[in-house]
Amino acid sequence: MNLQKCAVIGTGFVGATAAYTLATSGLFSELILLDVNRAKAEGEAADISHGVSFAQPCAVHAGDYQDLKDCGLVILAAGANQKPGETRIDLLHRNEVILKSILDAVLAVAPDCILLVVSNPVDLLTYLAQKLSGLPACRVIGTGTVLDTARLKYLVGQYLQVDSRNVHAFIIGEHGDSELAVWSSANVSGMDLPDYCRIAGKEFSQSVLDDIYQNVRDAAYHIIEGKGATYYGIGMAVLRIARAIVRGERSVLPVSSVIQGRYGVDEICLGLPSVLGKNGIETVLDLPLSYEERKRLESSAAKLRTLLDQMKI
Ligand code: LAC
Repeated sequence: MNLQKCAVIGTGFVGATAAYTLATSGLFSELILLDVNRAKAEGEAADISHGVSFAQPCAVHAGDYQDLKDCGLVILAAGANQKPGETRIDLLHRNEVILKSILDAVLAVAPDCILLVVSNPVDLLTYLAQKLSGLPACRVIGTGTVLDTARLKYLVGQYLQVDSRNVHAFIIGEHGDSELAVWSSANVSGMDLPDYCRIAGKEFSQSVLDDIYQNVRDAAYHIIEGKGATYYGIGMAVLRIARAIVRGERSVLPVSSVIQGRYGVDEICLGLPSVLGKNGIETVLDLPLSYEERKRLESSAAKLRTLLDQMKI
């Protein structure tokens, strides 16, 4: 298993942007792009390759499943994407079929890989990928609420006029409409939010928090209304996750994975803060939650459970 070798399956907006972001990162020596439309994968690989001399050496090429031998990280970005007015859940049946067709082919050549699921609905597809692949749960990872958390940090940073990297707060649960913000432990460099708002001369109120949360939750809808798809943010989120794994950083990121008996949640994938390293998910952390937050996490899990029960895995 070679963690310097990465494959991106599906070179639509999200896969191609993730590939571009990964290729410019210097993280990999080889990047293979696969798509049912081979010409599209070849075009994207050529386009990215032409910029490699401006970045760091990386062999970027289109390929087929045989080329995935020894591949350490396989990124699943194939599938339909949301149209204006659609939810992520609306994609389930289309993308479930696509995922099934890809998994067998991947596992036949790269049985020890770490799978990173990006396609939506990401939590349900991550669960399906783990069950169908039989890979250890720690090696089947969904992008979860990593992007939503980045959106939260960005918006809180904008509101408080502070570097978003100094904002520590999580969005957890479904990557979708039932996600929640964990305000109870949110802080700016160790100072809790009410204190920091006072320092910054900003109002701290439930309506401010609700407004930020709603903007995070609905961000993808607003972007899709405007430009038809989201891909830069998720592309950068994919790189952040890949870097934590390949470099063994043990970074805490709210990825999605099969949760067993944590937070009152069982046998379901959703985004929870997890330590990511060379083996994939090293630990899922027990983030303290308020009573209200726990209830909301349970209802997010219940929504996903209902949908999973309809999938007959
Ligand atoms: C988004 C897509 C990746 O939230 O679901 O932008």
